[in-house]
Amino acid sequence: MTPLALLSLASLAAALSLPFSLGIDTKQTNIRHLDYNVQSCACAPEARYFTCESPMKVANTSCCYEDYGIIMQTQFWDFDTKYLAQIKGKSNATFELGCQEGIDEYEEENEEDFEGYLHSYGKGSVNTSEVFTIHGLWNDLCNGSYNLYCNMDLVIPDSTNLTGLISKTFERPDLYKAMTKYWINSGGSNVLGDSLSLWQHEYNKHGTCFNTMQPKCFVGPYNKFQAALAYYQKVLEVWNTLPTYKFLKAAGITPSVEKPYALSDIEQALKVSHDNKKVYIGCRNGTINEIWYYYQVRGSALTGDYVARDSLTNSLCPKYVWYLPK
Ligand SMILES: *[C@@H]1O[C@H](CO)[C@@H](O)[C@H](O)[C@H]1NC(C)=O
Ligand SMILES: *[C@@H]1O[C@H](CO)[C@@H](O)[C@H](O)[C@H]1NC(C)=O
Ligand SMILES: *[C@@H]1O[C@H](CO)[C@@H](O)[C@H](O)[C@H]1NC(C)=O
Ligand SMILES: *[C@@H]1O[C@H](CO)[C@@H](O)[C@H](O)[C@H]1NC(C)=O
Ligand SMILES: *[C@@H]1O[C@H](CO)[C@@H](O)[C@H](O)[C@H]1NC(C)=O
Ligand SMILES: *[C@@H]1O[C@H](CO)[C@@H](O)[C@H](O)[C@H]1NC(C)=O
Repeated sequence: MTPLALLSLASLAAALSLPFSLGIDTKQTNIRHLDYNVQSCACAPEARYFTCESPMKVANTSCCYEDYGIIMQTQFWDFDTKYLAQIKGKSNATFELGCQEGIDEYEEENEEDFEGYLHSYGKGSVNTSEVFTIHGLWNDLCNGSYNLYCNMDLVIPDSTNLTGLISKTFERPDLYKAMTKYWINSGGSNVLGDSLSLWQHEYNKHGTCFNTMQPKCFVGPYNKFQAALAYYQKVLEVWNTLPTYKFLKAAGITPSVEKPYALSDIEQALKVSHDNKKVYIGCRNGTINEIWYYYQVRGSALTGDYVARDSLTNSLCPKYVWYLPK
């Protein structure tokens, strides 16, 4: 493990007030943390800077500095659309939620919640009705615009059997199982097909745009699609630190067909869970359906140090939003 990876785990554990050893052990026993086998960034001058902050121009061929430096971990909340009929016509403007008390309780409560979350995650017993599932890991340009499908040489073709590739060729049944359970293609995505299609789509569209995940950044013999596997492990690992449902629950915000919530309360609850940086909340039909966490990274996006940053996207949700059950 590189010093940067250690640093990021340490700061993560510190941010969550978790004992350092818990941050590491729990992760390793859940999804196996395989070394990314990318070149060290210890001596790369550009790896001293967080993305978007280098005072000098860094070529997008660097393995230690992301050119598209805004990293986003995006999540779905696939609420059950049958509830839309129930809330239709219900006024959403008459509810005020004072959540200051909830927020005060948050810090202490969350520590246990989070521990329990990771613990049960490994045992495969998390109730997915209480989980914001994975959309992907994206990298935007520093000015908030983005590029897609950046390297056609790397794309996973439709003919690839991703099940076989992940679980057999790369011998990652653990990763495959976690992906199957928590990276689900349903209503929220515009991707046709099953979850495998979503995984393929996310890597091709976003994963190929990370210059620090290009094949030349890996050490030792490079196996075809190794970069894709590294991307998938990283997506799971970053998502694993962001249990949105628990963050909201700790502030007293749980799914309901009875009442909508003030968007500002939801934003506040997620903000305190993201180093006081603004988190993007997406809605469909006045109902929460997506959450995006923004980061900048120092070093490789696989092994480097992630730091939370404010969202670059304004929420288009109404002032009062529904948070419907799945
Ligand atoms: C899963 O969570 C949902 C929503 O909170 C709840 O209604 C359901 O009973 C839970 N299922 C189990 C097996 O705990
Ligand atoms: C963002 O930067 C890129 C590359 O420098 C540029 O092509 C694009 O027009 C910029 N977008 C905005 C909204 O400024
Ligand atoms: C994909 O690979 C898995 C595991 O090797 C195998 O069980 C499955 O039949 C394959 N699917 C197709 C469509 O070939
Ligand atoms: C790096 O920049 C070149 C030229 O602008 C572009 O063609 C290429 O796709 C970029 N590489 C990545 C990984 O984005
Ligand atoms: C949800 O919104 C879409 C447009 O965004 C609309 O077509 C659809 O009818 C709405 N569904 C319900 C149940 O309100
Ligand atoms: C109430 O919800 C509707 C969509 O369901 C939205 O258009 C409207 O702006 C909301 N009103 C407030 C005050 O949030």
